[in-house]
Amino acid sequence: MNSHTTLAKFIHWTFTLLYAYGIFKQVDDLTELEDASLLNFEIMFATIFLIIVLIRYFYMKDTPTLLGAHEDVPKGHLFIAKTVHRLVYFSLIMLPTTGLLIAGLFNLGMGGVEIAIALHEFSAFLSYVVIALHVGATLYSRIKGEGLWNAMVPVWKESGKNNSNLLSKLEAIEEKIYKKVEDKFI
Ligand code: HEM
Ligand code: HEM
Repeated sequence: MNSHTTLAKFIHWTFTLLYAYGIFKQVDDLTELEDASLLNFEIMFATIFLIIVLIRYFYMKDTPTLLGAHEDVPKGHLFIAKTVHRLVYFSLIMLPTTGLLIAGLFNLGMGGVEIAIALHEFSAFLSYVVIALHVGATLYSRIKGEGLWNAMVPVWKESGKNNSNLLSKLEAIEEKIYKKVEDKFI
């Protein structure tokens, strides 16, 4: 059965912790940056975060999406999954980049910090939305027992496809959505 590499799993799960830490330790407002050691720490954290995201992106970019799926995945489904993964990467690149922009403008005492903060807040918001979608979709797939959970998640392993009336109805709706996406985008 196809599985992501040990390194891919290691990066996925350590990065999840790094992201959670970044979100919890967030700066509350601009005046906190007057503390030089905090400002330096933020700059270092954002730089390391950005480097890890980029390394991860290049390491993963040629790995097939939904790698562990037992059955052939419709093109429309793959398109949606890839789009969400790309949006996750986009938000994870924007977060440290706009953070560094805030730091740069703040250090130079230049105007425009408000715009950088607005972009930073938007990046945080986008990351919440797309990561919630990602986790929600993964849990849904886990309930269906499609196989891709086992390829990335080391716990609560699936044992095979689950069938129920409700799942068949949901699958019929999914098929329609994938067809629409295929007609429009592929
Ligand atoms: C905590 C709950 C999470 C679960 C259960 C989960 C599960 C998964 C699974 C099963 C895959 C493989 C999908 C495939 O084969 O295409 C995957 C991939 C991925 N996950 Fe998560 N994930 C979680 C959290 C996160 C978080 C917090 C992030 C971002 C910070 C994230 C970012 C990604 C990305 C970008 C991929 C695509 C593969 C890659 O480039 O590494 N995930 N995840
Ligand atoms: C990867 C690195 C970073 C992460 C994950 C991160 C995350 C966050 C989050 C989640 C927020 C709250 C946004 C909201 O209200 O929705 C925030 C706010 C803020 N961040 Fe960051 N940040 C990072 C780097 C930086 C850096 C390098 C700076 C500047 C030195 C910075 C300065 C700020 C400021 C000033 C705010 C407060 C904005 C306000 O006034 O509401 N951040 N950050």
